[in-house]
Amino acid sequence: MNGPILAIETSCDETAAAVVEGRRIRSNVVASQAEMHAPYGGVVPEVAARHHLGTVNGVVDEALAAAGLALADVRAVAVTQRPGLIGALLIGVATAKAIAYAARKPLLMVDHIHGHIAASWLDPVALDPPFVSLVASGGHTRLDLVRDLRAPVLLGQTIDDAAGEAIDKGARLLGLGYPGGPALERLASGGDRAAHAFPVALRGAGVRDFSFAGVKTSLLYVVRERDGEPLGDAERADLAASYQEAVVRPLADRLIAAAVEEGVPTVALGGGVAANGRLRALVAEGAERAGLRVAVPDRSLCTDNAAMIGAAAQFTDEVPWPDYLGLDAVATAPPGGIAA
Ligand code: KG4
Ligand code: ZN
Repeated sequence: MNGPILAIETSCDETAAAVVEGRRIRSNVVASQAEMHAPYGGVVPEVAARHHLGTVNGVVDEALAAAGLALADVRAVAVTQRPGLIGALLIGVATAKAIAYAARKPLLMVDHIHGHIAASWLDPVALDPPFVSLVASGGHTRLDLVRDLRAPVLLGQTIDDAAGEAIDKGARLLGLGYPGGPALERLASGGDRAAHAFPVALRGAGVRDFSFAGVKTSLLYVVRERDGEPLGDAERADLAASYQEAVVRPLADRLIAAAVEEGVPTVALGGGVAANGRLRALVAEGAERAGLRVAVPDRSLCTDNAAMIGAAAQFTDEVPWPDYLGLDAVATAPPGGIAA
């Protein structure tokens, strides 16, 4: 079914709304709370929820206005239902239910990871299955096999920290601010990635899961061994480069290996860590060797946004008016995959 969809995303620390019609993004508004959480070194759930509450209506209005549409013009309302911070999700879900109910529109309850995976389906990348998707962010690290956008199949995921979480914690140990990804990448660019041999966990053929707790602890030991003596600039840069390598190399290697093993021609990147230049370079090198195509959406579609939720909504079953009034937000991901 065609027609514009109004999508809302509030699962973490971005309040976002977008209007998407097929693969076309008609508007994509993101109000980030990152600065608000920076003094705490991470997202504070209660602060996030309260801020979403104050911001969401304005963001929705802005998305509709930027698309040149009124609420009556949209075909349906979509919202991130799961997984995420429960208080944050509740604001988006309650808002979407209220708007859809008042306008007598159907509702589409979308999985956030499904959104990250569907982001590359949007213009201008316009990727169609089959492909293997890597989603690496502050909250998630996983590989999915996508033969059908309605039902991505989970191939592997982190068994402890997410890649972005490991990067943020590593950045903090090296005295950088939050979020640490861009700062760690800048510091790493002047360092030697072979200077320290950080451990890469779960090695071996066919391994598709990830683990980043060990590498983080290794960096902690290196910093602790200094016993309060500050690291020199060159040493910090070498540590940043070696640490970044230990986090992003398994992401690239396992993504490429999974695509080859599954016999699909394309790999796709998503999530905030997809902005990392070293990850992109490793994926590009591996893909070239294996004869694969790489699809990377614009950075604004890799980090949390509502256009990706509008994309996944088009591969999600619609709940007719007013049957969704009893449905609610869910904090956790369903085991084993994405329930569309
Ligand atoms: O997808 P995202 O914006 O938010 C969620 O976590 O859902 O991802 C944020 C994560 C943070 O951990 C941040 O440090 C990481 O993505 N990140 C990066 C870079 N830019 C953002 N990690 C490595 N290199 C970057 N350039
Ligand atoms: Zn996300």
